[in-house]
Amino acid sequence: MSFKNLRFLKGMLKFSRFNDIGIDLGTANTIVYKTGKGIILREPSVVAINTETKRPVAVGLEAKEMIGRTPGSIEAIRPLKEGVIADYESTAIMLKYFLKKAMGKSFMGKNRILICIPYAVTDVERSAVEKAAYFTGAKDVKIIEEPLAAAIGSGLPVSEPVGSMVVDIGGGTSEVAVISLGGIVSSESVRVAGDAIDASIIAYIKKNFSLVIGERTAEEIKIEIGNALGYSGKMEIRGRDLMTGLPHNVEVSAEDIREAISESVTLILEAVKNTLEHTPPELAADIIDYGITLTGGGALLRGLDVLISRETGIPVHIANTPLDCVALGTGKSLENPVLWNSISK
Ligand SMILES: Nc1ncnc2c1ncn2[C@@H]1O[C@H](COP(=O)(O)OP(=O)(O)OP(=O)(O)O)[C@@H](O)[C@H]1O
Ligand SMILES: [Mg+2]
Repeated sequence: MSFKNLRFLKGMLKFSRFNDIGIDLGTANTIVYKTGKGIILREPSVVAINTETKRPVAVGLEAKEMIGRTPGSIEAIRPLKEGVIADYESTAIMLKYFLKKAMGKSFMGKNRILICIPYAVTDVERSAVEKAAYFTGAKDVKIIEEPLAAAIGSGLPVSEPVGSMVVDIGGGTSEVAVISLGGIVSSESVRVAGDAIDASIIAYIKKNFSLVIGERTAEEIKIEIGNALGYSGKMEIRGRDLMTGLPHNVEVSAEDIREAISESVTLILEAVKNTLEHTPPELAADIIDYGITLTGGGALLRGLDVLISRETGIPVHIANTPLDCVALGTGKSLENPVLWNSISK
């Protein structure tokens, strides 16, 4: 084997290290990808803190189950809100906990970390994420924009001179982007996504049924009968009667929920239309041919794909595993030297 080949092989080996990690640090969920292995952790982005000692008592799923059910001495917080870091300290605690849980002793601090953040974050928020990742002892930290990671993870031809459109609807933000030759050509980010949809369900049920429900019930309703278009069904829900203050059951229909969330759905739709308007004509033509790809948990909202397609006249596809796309995109970028090198620091 020639010296040149040996050097090439050494370079490839450097890239096939198995301990690098990709993180989708989402408002609702954090997903960790380990190179050579795939997704190794999926947890809600929640931390429960003892308000007296300021120490975490639970992180992830266990902490999410405490939301709305904590005694005075415990507070369940979501360190990320609307796609940005609202509480730096608990974000760092959460990241460190998840990495330890996912990697155990194999996380020796020599790893590369590729972490995904929303597209519209400020420089301050961006460096807060980096700081939190370095806090875990990583050697090299890079940041990738969410729509780019989502597009890579859903298998779109991002590196080619072809326009691809991705709409990532998460918990805090909905991000629409057109990507070509590895970069974002036009995009729009709105702070309206799963959380805003849940909040509109809470407000609607309170106004129309005089019933107070919590965030978790609202999310359950959304997942069971939520829809943007043409779905019928009913669901029995329990809450606190606004008049009597006592527990009470009511039946809500899919039509009720469609009305409750229509404003949020319209804002997401407008972001898609605005982005299309700002897309150069050649790329717009590609999108008409290849369609729009939906990713993020919000992609699973019934009828949203059909509504977007009807309103834009463009075919819409839901990615295979919409909740995992961003994490898969970070993983693919770590495993592919060309993609890794194309991500600026
Ligand atoms: N079947 C479903 N129908 C509608 N919404 C859903 C469904 N399943 C999950 N969701 C919603 O998807 C959201 C979570 O999606 P995701 O994990 O992509 O968000 P995130 O990446 O954490 O947030 P962000 O990207 O805004 O930071 C939650 O609001 C959740 O309620
Ligand atoms: Mg996300």
